[in-house]
Amino acid sequence: MEEKTPRDSESSISRVMLPPDANVAGNVFGGTILKMVDEIAGIVATKHCRRNCVTANIEHIDFIYPVRIGDLVELKGRLNFVGRSSMEVGVEVYAENLETGDMNFTGRATVTMVALDDNGKPVEVPKLKLETDEDRSLFNAGQQRYDERAKRMKMTKKGSNQS
Ligand SMILES: CC(C)(COP(=O)(O)OP(=O)(O)OC[C@H]1O[C@@H](n2cnc3c(N)ncnc32)[C@H](O)[C@@H]1OP(=O)(O)O)[C@@H](O)C(=O)NCCC(=O)NCCS
Repeated sequence: MEEKTPRDSESSISRVMLPPDANVAGNVFGGTILKMVDEIAGIVATKHCRRNCVTANIEHIDFIYPVRIGDLVELKGRLNFVGRSSMEVGVEVYAENLETGDMNFTGRATVTMVALDDNGKPVEVPKLKLETDEDRSLFNAGQQRYDERAKRMKMTKKGSNQS
């Protein structure tokens, strides 16, 4: 299978926040942003492997800037790490006030997507071709999280067998 670079699949999506996306005070729900995080991660992973992909894990998200109704929310996603069937996507979230043009970094998330074959089983995906120092540094950090997750999942599965 031919290797692909993070540039081959990096993507962005954007959408204006409307009243159903927010609470009565006009603050956008975290869940609205999480849904978009899931969407962009799915787009990036699918572009990499051209397979059906499911979300296995959303590792981490901090919301550091409040998003309001009327803001244009933009998410940028790129692959950090690829295992055999799993792909870790790094997502950055920005919010732009359309009236002032102010752009604020709102948060970042790390999402693991898994590619499935036609029978719903995890299937091998193309390896990640690392071209830049940033590619290598993100890959190494992703590999570390993959190793830690693998240990944690082993413990979780062991626990569920005992119950
Ligand atoms: C993700 C899923 C396909 C993994 O299936 P599985 O039978 O546990 O498969 P495996 O143990 O062989 O793992 C396959 C890959 O998934 C990764 N993986 C499994 N569970 C994971 C988790 N919770 N977080 C991150 N990666 C995970 C493994 O590390 C492995 O990666 P690799 O192939 O790169 O080494 C399965 O747990 C599933 O279908 N989950 C539900 C997904 C879903 O429907 N999400 C939408 C929200 S409900």
